[in-house]
Amino acid sequence: MKKFYITTPIYYVNDKPHAGTSYSTVIADILNRYHQFFKKQTFFLTGIDEHGQKCRQAAQDKGLPPQTHCDQMAEIFKKYWKILCIQYNHFYRTTSPSHKKSVQKALQKLFDSGHIYESTYEGWYCVSEEIFYTQKDLINGLSPYGKKVTKIKEKNYFFKMSQFKNRLIEHLEKNPHFIYPPHRQNEVLGFLNQGLEDLCISRPTTRLKWGIPLPFDPHYVVYVWIDALLNYVFAIDLWKNNQNFHQWWENSHHLIGKDILITHAVYWPCLLMALEIPLPKHIISHGWLLNKEQEKMSKSKGKILDPLDLIDLIGSDPLRYFFIKSVRLGQDSPISPSLIVKEYNQDLANNLGNLFQRTITLISSYFDSKIPPPIPQDFNSKNIHHQALKTCDDVKDKIFNLHLHKAMFEIMKLLDTTNRYLENTAPWKLIQSDKQKTALVLRTSLEVLRISASLLQPVIPQSSQKILNKLGLHSPDFDQTKTWNALQTHLPITKEKPLFPRIQLRV
Ligand code: MSP
Repeated sequence: MKKFYITTPIYYVNDKPHAGTSYSTVIADILNRYHQFFKKQTFFLTGIDEHGQKCRQAAQDKGLPPQTHCDQMAEIFKKYWKILCIQYNHFYRTTSPSHKKSVQKALQKLFDSGHIYESTYEGWYCVSEEIFYTQKDLINGLSPYGKKVTKIKEKNYFFKMSQFKNRLIEHLEKNPHFIYPPHRQNEVLGFLNQGLEDLCISRPTTRLKWGIPLPFDPHYVVYVWIDALLNYVFAIDLWKNNQNFHQWWENSHHLIGKDILITHAVYWPCLLMALEIPLPKHIISHGWLLNKEQEKMSKSKGKILDPLDLIDLIGSDPLRYFFIKSVRLGQDSPISPSLIVKEYNQDLANNLGNLFQRTITLISSYFDSKIPPPIPQDFNSKNIHHQALKTCDDVKDKIFNLHLHKAMFEIMKLLDTTNRYLENTAPWKLIQSDKQKTALVLRTSLEVLRISASLLQPVIPQSSQKILNKLGLHSPDFDQTKTWNALQTHLPITKEKPLFPRIQLRV
């Protein structure tokens, strides 16, 4: 069976998850579930990035030892992911003893193979991003992302990153789909063409103790980004189980935000080359969720949306739906409770929910709450049947091409056509003259609901399951979904309260 390995960034534990970090995790979860649906064996990795100055500071602010703070934050992250129905295979922690040992092994290898040297670092450091900057990188005395920087001058260890510049450029030119979307690949090429410097990979323990000690000099800890990036290979057993490692790594996908593109598309590949490990298959870079002022939603920019508040308002499935449908993967997008409610009402309440409610209500009124038998199709029913099967293929195609929102448009188009089919055929009138034809209309509509709910399983898992359970089905895969007339005739199907009641947002 084909494999699919997907990772999220590991999140800093200076704060609980917000809508932005939840977005990354939900999209990775949806991609992972779609690949399962398309019959791939998948591995989904997420976790937390626990070292560095930022985390040390957060623990200090709370008056806690850093490890206690990290342990508490790990539980908070896991709680959020559970509520958002995130099905990860492994929750990675960089304070685990095995991670520390593996990072030290990697650093020793780099040192022994001559990729690390000692020198004096003079430049700028941004605590918020945990990134070193040179004078030419700064914009108006701030980091390129507008964050505060402080000047530092100290003896440190450096990774000879510059020597991998040409090999990386060559890799990008040979693999035009290495980074998605393509304009991000051009951005990285532009960055490399300006010249690549060596990378400072240590922090003296006199300034920061909260990190993994360098194996060859205990007066230093490893720079947090080096420590963090390595999680992607250690989680799948690099140096422990080679076969396991390679079968996942060959099909690896890093989903990241555009603000951490350079660390993932430059630092990380260079590090892998130095360690003689193949590069990941794809890097998928998403945009930012923006606040009312059209700025990146982040703690430093003021009010951030807590996903738990949004879930209280609307539920976890609708929030997941908003992330995939309203946000175009790779682009920035505004987010607010009113936008989420608008999308919910339009697609889930008025389209999917409405069709489901109407169809089962009519079946319970005219067919004794039992699914009617299949009947030879007429022109209209055949048309819907063909559109439904085409929707399955279109969804698969759009997901593979990462046009995630377009996949949702296809499903909504099918549901919309079927709602109109119901209006045009008016089964509530038709029943008086033609019971056979009424049965055909309702069965056609129910088939569309089965297919749509099935195609939506990776996105709205709880609601889809409710619909499918009602239809006597349990987690159908793609091939089962694409079979027409898969419903069980005479299966009891009773009325229930609306699955997606309309929401009125009071402002
Ligand atoms: N710890 C590093 C990642 C190390 S991975 C080896 C880190 N952590 S983070 O917590 O600051 O950010 C994690 C992810 O959240 C990034 O991909 C970032 O783009 C994403 N987001 C944070 N705010 C966001 C928005 N407002 N919108 C969308 N995503 C955003 O960086």
